Amino acid sequence: MKVNIEHKEAGKFEETRFEKIHNVIFENSDEASIIVAEEIANLIREKAELNEKCVLGLATGSSPIDVYEELVRMHYEEGLSFKNVVTFNLDEYYPMEKENTQSYWYFMHEHLFNHVDILPENINIPDGSIEQDDIHQYCLDYELKIKEAGGLDFQLLGIGRTGHIGFNEPGSHFNSGTRNISLDHITRVDASSAFLGIDNVPRVAITMGISTIQKSKRIVLLAWGINKASVIKKTIEGNITSEVPATYLQDHSNVTFVLDKGASQELTRIKTPWLVRSCEWSDDRTLKASVWLSGLVKKSILKLTDSDYNNNGMSNLLIEYSSAYNLNIQMFNKLQHTITGWPGGKPKADDTNRPERKSPSKKRIIIFSPHPDDDVISMGGTFDRLVEQGHDVHIAYQTSGNIAVSDTEAIKFVEVALALNGENSKFKKIVDDLNNKKEYDIDTVEVRQLKSLIRRKESLGATRYLGVPDKNVHFLDLPFYETGRVKKDKLGKLDIKIMTDIISGIKPHQIYAAGDLADPHGTHKVSLDALFKALALLKTEKYMDDCWVWLYRGAWHEWDIHEIEMVVPMSPDQVLKKRQAIFYHQSQKDGVLFQGDDSREFWMRAEDRNKMTAKKYNDLGLADYAALEAFRRYHF
Ligand code: F6R
Repeated sequence: MKVNIEHKEAGKFEETRFEKIHNVIFENSDEASIIVAEEIANLIREKAELNEKCVLGLATGSSPIDVYEELVRMHYEEGLSFKNVVTFNLDEYYPMEKENTQSYWYFMHEHLFNHVDILPENINIPDGSIEQDDIHQYCLDYELKIKEAGGLDFQLLGIGRTGHIGFNEPGSHFNSGTRNISLDHITRVDASSAFLGIDNVPRVAITMGISTIQKSKRIVLLAWGINKASVIKKTIEGNITSEVPATYLQDHSNVTFVLDKGASQELTRIKTPWLVRSCEWSDDRTLKASVWLSGLVKKSILKLTDSDYNNNGMSNLLIEYSSAYNLNIQMFNKLQHTITGWPGGKPKADDTNRPERKSPSKKRIIIFSPHPDDDVISMGGTFDRLVEQGHDVHIAYQTSGNIAVSDTEAIKFVEVALALNGENSKFKKIVDDLNNKKEYDIDTVEVRQLKSLIRRKESLGATRYLGVPDKNVHFLDLPFYETGRVKKDKLGKLDIKIMTDIISGIKPHQIYAAGDLADPHGTHKVSLDALFKALALLKTEKYMDDCWVWLYRGAWHEWDIHEIEMVVPMSPDQVLKKRQAIFYHQSQKDGVLFQGDDSREFWMRAEDRNKMTAKKYNDLGLADYAALEAFRRYHF
C-alpha cells in the first residue's frame, strides 16, 4: 500500500500524543524519496495545468539526492516538464565560486538542473561570490525576488545535527530573513569529509531565514539515518527554542517530516511505545523494554520488580508473564545466550542455546570489510578467535579506501620509492603530481594506485599479524568507490558480480559484514547494499542454505543491547592484540581525513565501545568482561 504523506495535525491521535510535528516513517529512504518526488511532481503538473508558475524552495546535502534523482527520472521517462518551475535554493557557502565542486550551485546543477528543462533564468541560488559589502542588499533582493515570484509553494528541507534548517544555526531568530551567518562547529565537522578536512570548510554561509522558510505554503523535511535521530526527537517532541531552530516548524500549519527508520528511532512512540499506549508484546519488544527499564531504574534485570514494570507503562506485559520474576529470568537467559567465546560455533557442544551452530566444526568464513581496516576496528577480537579456532577465514576488503590516504602520507611512501629507484624512475611523476595538486583536484590514476597500495600493504600487515595466509585476503576494489572523489557512484552490475563471484567461489558457512546504517549515503551502507543484492541473487544456491550472515557495526555506532544476537568477549590481552592489529593501518592513525565528529583515533573508539558494551552487559547483571564485540544476524 502506498504511504500517504499528506499533512495531518500532529499529536491528534493517542499514538502521536508526544509529537508536535506531523511525520511519516518509511522503511528506507529510497522508498520515501520517491513519494516526496511524487508530491513535488504533482504540484508542478497541477500548476502547469492552471498555467501558473510552481515556486520551489530547494535544499542541498545528502538528504534530497534521491528525490532529485527521481524527479530527473520522471522528466526523462514520464515527460515531467520544469518549464513552469522557479526555484530558490536555501543557502550557499560564503565565499564560494560557482565552479567549485563543493558549491551548492555545482551540487544543484549536477543533481537536478543539468538534467531537466528548467529555464536558467528561473534558477535562484544565493551567490557565494558577491562582495562582502554587497551581501546585505543582495539578501534583501533575494527575499524580494521570492515575494515577486508569488512566494514559495513548496519548501524541501534537510536538517543538520545542530537542528539547523537552511543554515539557520542555533540562536537564529524566528523572524530572521535571508542573511549571512557563521556556521556552527558541528555543521563544519559534518561537512569536513566533503571538503577533505575541517580547515577547508567555509566558516560563513548565506541562508534564507526562518521567516522566509515559514512563509512557504507547504514544507517537507527529510531526515535519514540514526545520526539524525536525536535532533529529530528534540524537534518533534521538544519545546520551540532558538537552540534547535527546526522546532520553529512546530508553528507551521502544513509541514510534514519524512523519516526513515533510523531517523525516527528516538521518537517516544518508536523507542518506548509502552509509554504512549498499551502495546503488543513481541519477544524483541519485551527484551527492549526490560533492558530499557533496567537502565531507567538502575537495577540489573533480575532485580526488577512488579512495581518497576507497573510504574513504567508495562503492566500488560506483567499480565502475560504473570510476574516480574518469570519475565526477568526469561530476559536474563535470552541475554546470557548471546554470549559466546566460540563465534564459529563450539564443536561437540550442545548448541541449542548458543548463537552459532556447532557444525561443521571448521567453517569457511568471509569477513567483508567496507574499507581496509573495518575488519579489525569492528571485530578484531572475533576475527582473532575465528582464526585461532581453526576456521578457514577469508578477508574481503570491499573498497580500496584510497581517498582516505592524505597526500602527505602518500608523498612519504613515494619519496622512498623515488630514492630507491632514482630521479628518472616513474616515481618522479607521482611525486610531481602530488606536489602540484591544487586544492580540489582529483588524484591522478597513479596517485590513486599508490594510495590503494598503501592501504593494501597496511591491511596485509594486520591480517598476517592475526595469522591469515595472504591467499585468503581479497581486495575487491569495488568500482562504485573509484571516482577519486568523496562522492561515489551508484552500485553497478560489476560491483554485484564481484560480490557474487567471491561468495560463490568460497561457499561460506559464515559471512560477517558491516551493518552500518548511520550514514545512508556512505560507503558502509553502499557496501552493505552490495552484499544484500549479491545474497538475493545467490539465495537459491544449495550451499547458501548453510550460510549465516552476521552484521557488525562500524566505528561510529554499536547495536542497541536488545538488538544483539551474539557477543564475543575479549580478555584484556585480546584487547591489546586488537589494538596492535588496528595500528597496522598507520595511514588512518594521526590526522585521518574522515574522522567524523569524534576526535578519538579509531583504536580508542573501538576499545571504548567494546568496553562500554561489556559494562552494559554487566549492569544488566551478566558477567563482567573486559570488552565485548557485538553482532546481529541478518536473515536473507
Ligand atoms: C542544505 C541545507 C542544510 C542541510 C542539512 C542536512 O541546503 O540547507 O540545512 O539540509 O545540513 O544535510 P544532509 O542532508 O547532508 O544531512
